[in-house]
Amino acid sequence: MFQKITATFACWLLSCAAFAQHKDAIFLDKAQFTTGDDPAWSFPGFDDKTWKTLQTGQVWQAQGFDNYHGFAWYRIHVFVPSSLRENAFWKDSLRLFLAHVNDVDETYFNGVKVGKTGAFPDDAGGYVSKWPATREYHIAAEAAAVKWDAENIISIKVYDGGGTGGIFMGAPYIDMLEKTDGLAITMAAEDIRYDADKATLTLTVSNSYSVYFDGVLKTKILDAAAHGIITQKNAVLHIRPLDKSVFHFTVPNRPGVEISWSFTQTGTTLVRSEKQTLPYTLTPSPADLPRINSAAVLGLHPGSPVLFKIAATGKKPLRYAASGLPAGVQIDPSTGMIGGVVTDSGSYPVVITVSNSLGKAQQHFNIVAGARLALTPPMGWNSWNCWGINVSADKVMQSAQALIDKGLIDYGWTYINIDDGWQKPVRATDSSVVPNEKFDDMMALGTWLHSRGLKFGIYSSPGPRTCGGYLGSYRNEEKDASTYAAWGVDYLKYDWCSYDEIARNDSALTTFIKPYSIMDEALQKQKRDIVYNLCQYGMRDVWKWGSQVHAQSWRTTEDIEDTWQSFSSIGFGQARLYPYAGPGHWNDPDMMIVGKVGWGQDLHPTRLTPDEQYTHVSLWCLLSAPLLIGCDLSKLDAFTRNLLTNSEVLAIDQDVLGSQAQRMVENDSTQVWVKQLADGGKAIGVFNMTSGYSHVRLPWKELGFRRTQRVRDAWRQKSLGTVQNVPRLLLPPHGSVLLKLASN
Ligand code: GLA
Repeated sequence: MFQKITATFACWLLSCAAFAQHKDAIFLDKAQFTTGDDPAWSFPGFDDKTWKTLQTGQVWQAQGFDNYHGFAWYRIHVFVPSSLRENAFWKDSLRLFLAHVNDVDETYFNGVKVGKTGAFPDDAGGYVSKWPATREYHIAAEAAAVKWDAENIISIKVYDGGGTGGIFMGAPYIDMLEKTDGLAITMAAEDIRYDADKATLTLTVSNSYSVYFDGVLKTKILDAAAHGIITQKNAVLHIRPLDKSVFHFTVPNRPGVEISWSFTQTGTTLVRSEKQTLPYTLTPSPADLPRINSAAVLGLHPGSPVLFKIAATGKKPLRYAASGLPAGVQIDPSTGMIGGVVTDSGSYPVVITVSNSLGKAQQHFNIVAGARLALTPPMGWNSWNCWGINVSADKVMQSAQALIDKGLIDYGWTYINIDDGWQKPVRATDSSVVPNEKFDDMMALGTWLHSRGLKFGIYSSPGPRTCGGYLGSYRNEEKDASTYAAWGVDYLKYDWCSYDEIARNDSALTTFIKPYSIMDEALQKQKRDIVYNLCQYGMRDVWKWGSQVHAQSWRTTEDIEDTWQSFSSIGFGQARLYPYAGPGHWNDPDMMIVGKVGWGQDLHPTRLTPDEQYTHVSLWCLLSAPLLIGCDLSKLDAFTRNLLTNSEVLAIDQDVLGSQAQRMVENDSTQVWVKQLADGGKAIGVFNMTSGYSHVRLPWKELGFRRTQRVRDAWRQKSLGTVQNVPRLLLPPHGSVLLKLASN
């Protein structure tokens, strides 16, 4: 009678994000909550009045249970009116949607188990985290467990194995399943083509049920700022079982263009509708003349192998040269790869030249051999936000190859970092860590990456296990550091996770520093430059002591998700941390959530609007944040590629002064952040915090800028004249502009 369906309608399709639920859906935004575990908590009659009330859309760490990992229960009390069933066309199945659960759940409806996703530590086979899966359980409307016109108790036993815990990343609800749930209307980002001021896109209406679909599809292309219709089209649809209909549109390639569609099913008159802001490109195509995009400084330890590929655009083939290189270091003229070993400490001023058949570009480049690494924020890719623990050598190589083929390497994107999920559960007899069946040969992978000018990153935990339940480095730190060095690792993300079990609620600052200092000592012994990233979510103000353990960056927050709420609270929440960022020590507000993400399941286009994505990249560059792309690069669409290859925007992140922007204006609707740049100029981010269009006139004078200073739009790579000519800015919802102010 009870049927468990895991994430049947994953709702990552653009159409279903907002309208998957029935119009009479009942949202379950609050629950009674307690930590611990007791089977009696599944019984409907249990008295939970003394429990705490939590929001279901946010992890419990954000709601007063800061550092709790382990079992917990939610109890949701919901009155289910019989009108929910009566108003439905198909009246047979109740759907319980619980969004994501960190990490495992077992769910009961009035004491009857209706579903389970993942495995608890005491289950046969052990703990399996399934936080990337959305939970959707279906219950027959006739089932005795459903009490119509009465209060029902939904009890959810949850286990959090590390990181954050609880129901999150979505709005849980109950409703009735309808035929229109079998219909998906999608506009795939990969299918959008840009041609200067126009874009062509494809809308696909597909039927995943084995019944016919009849209805009318109305589509409009809208000018959102002017509230006008650009074009509209109606179509009568008769879609066969498991078939689809496809429509093409040509639209303007500029901000503020929206598409809206609504499908009305014949007979039931049920409507599925959706409105989307269309992605638009701002980054101009690179010139044919060479341009050097690499940061102008490289920090390294004397005695360690050097690997640095000059990032440059321009008509291929490009030739590379460098004068003033320290002894022991050479450049490959055809690849731009600098290799060798610097033996003596010191600062070596180098001039790089990149040339092609049309001309040449030159740039001063300082090689600083000394104690510091990462003199500009690391840029690259990390497997977590797309592949989660399903990462494999093949997937890593595919993204690395795509990073090269799609030209991202020419803009300085270099690190290829494997996150959690690569370790075998047991160590070798000599106690070295061994990769699991998904990664047969780490050294070969490292060599493969290095031969292409890329760097190799890896992940571990100071605890016995990582957050995903894989083997950690506890008590094997030195062995692991030397194994990483032998594999050619260039970057280590070291994630607290199960170190809780070792720290055992000891809140002394030294307890938080200790595991990071043990790995620091182990890394210092290696003859290899391994950038050290602390991942412990900002506990005990890590920014104040991260440099003490020779870390080059530290996560300042809990995990990011691809929503405005998550990225804006993390990004705009960095304001007070600006004194702690600088060359060789960066605040890390987490990996980027653009492109196709999904944490190993339900890979879906980011749920950020295009304007929010411009804001995301602009803010991360102003913050001097490490830039780690978190999407599947082999599926990189034209919009996201354009977003990640703007040399003037990325130069703001990679500025050698390394200062983090300060927030200069903050009110309900607007924020202005200003970053000091090495050339005496400034980068300015103006952000619309509202969900509507907003006009902003910058208070130039109050900000201390002179009327004659020259202003440039960094995204469009265009001059706007001087401060006194900059017009009032019209910013889209959650949108922004990124300006560069010249020093004179
Ligand atoms: C934690 C980290 C994430 C990721 C996962 C891996 O949640 O914050 O960035 O590394 O662990 O399990």
